[in-house]
Amino acid sequence: MIDYKSLIEKAYNAMQNSHSPYSNFKVGACVLTKNKKTYTGTNIENSSFGATVCAERVAINNAVASGEKDLLCLAIISSNNEYVFPCGICRQTMIEFSDTMEVVVAKSLTEYKVLKIKDLLPYYFSAKDIK
Ligand code: THU
Repeated sequence: MIDYKSLIEKAYNAMQNSHSPYSNFKVGACVLTKNKKTYTGTNIENSSFGATVCAERVAINNAVASGEKDLLCLAIISSNNEYVFPCGICRQTMIEFSDTMEVVVAKSLTEYKVLKIKDLLPYYFSAKDIK
């Protein structure tokens, strides 16, 4: 049983480190791996806007760089007290590592929805398509 609230809390804490002087929109993420490890991320913006990275990808990249590729669940929270849904690039990054992972979108530390990556990204492109 996944402790969603603990992932949301970790995402919330990571959000405090957001570097978002251009949008003033802070996002935090926390990913849980099969080995029960967690890795966090926050959005990191750049004055060259295209160099900006989302919180979700920072969290996933942290996990992968630490040798943890089996992702079970990723929680996301933002500073605007509304549900924030992952962008297309982040959905593609998630499904690269797991097509069964759960995505928790949180409005607050206690209000959240649990979604499935396949529902967020149907008809996806993946390694199976490259032969
Ligand atoms: N952002 C995320 O970190 N995750 C999302 O799912 C949506 C967007 C960030 C990128 C940028 O720093 C800011 O939010 C506004 O787009």
